[in-house]
Amino acid sequence: MQASRVVIVGTGGTIAGVAGRADDLVDYRAGTLDAADLVAAVPTLAGQPLETETLARLDSSDMDHATWLALHARLVALMQRAELAGVVVTHGTDTLEETAYFLHRTLAAPRPVVLTAAMRPATALSPDGPRNLADAVAVARTPGAGGVVVAFGGRVLAGHEVRKVHGFALDAFSTGDAGPIAVSEQGALRLLRGWPQAPLHAAATRLSAAHAAGAAAALPWPRVDIVTSHAGADGRVIDALLAAGAQGIVVAGTGNGSVHAALDAAARRALAAGVRVVRASRCQLGGVVGERADALPSYGVLTAAQARVELLLDLLAAA
Ligand code: SIN
Repeated sequence: MQASRVVIVGTGGTIAGVAGRADDLVDYRAGTLDAADLVAAVPTLAGQPLETETLARLDSSDMDHATWLALHARLVALMQRAELAGVVVTHGTDTLEETAYFLHRTLAAPRPVVLTAAMRPATALSPDGPRNLADAVAVARTPGAGGVVVAFGGRVLAGHEVRKVHGFALDAFSTGDAGPIAVSEQGALRLLRGWPQAPLHAAATRLSAAHAAGAAAALPWPRVDIVTSHAGADGRVIDALLAAGAQGIVVAGTGNGSVHAALDAAARRALAAGVRVVRASRCQLGGVVGERADALPSYGVLTAAQARVELLLDLLAAA
């Protein structure tokens, strides 16, 4: 029989946010409600085989490595439960792309791990969270689904491709040229392409071993920062990061990852000092295409935020 039980893990965000007035979409407290409160607000989920747990109550702009580790450990355990159809993680939109990318690279997900979120607090006149949560549960129950995905605004997006492209609009996420995996229509999913396969990063083994040994809190998270190239840039930020002990730096370049000459010179000083430096693009879509022979290396299509996670994992695997 097809599994239908879904666990909903709350981590906070606007989806769990509460404002003083129903018409206030800005001044609210994110991460106020529990996962059980979110489910209770969706009539169509009543009576369904769901479990809820609240792992964190963060505004995701405050997401940290400790919460990532706790979430990773919890999801590793839930993935072992063969009777589950899948897991839904409610999250803030602000750093959802980083958490989704981190999980995609480190979590074996034979059943779906579906992140969802909202742009409007739960107290809004017409909140988007309830529909997104209902869609996420439906995705988690989809036969044949797997991997880390995001259910948002009626679409299912791959966790390693998603990025937040709007600060306020309901349709805040994009996967650019890749497009959605599926669209949600009248409660049914129309699949447009395959579910994401997770080529796990070498650091995944390190994370699993650390969980098993109860030593995850002692993992030596490297220091990786993002520096943006812009008109009038100089090398002082990178020099300061070097002095602060940076181990990795992502330079969010202009256009196709081009970097101001003064910043580029500082990046090369950092490279010479043994710091890993990679380029990304500060453009929301497109990433860095091709590699000029004399340019700093890049991770191609990854956003600067995703590139930071990839570099963190590279350094963690090598530590
Ligand atoms: C957050 O990221 O936790 C706040 C913003 C949001 O969820 O839209």
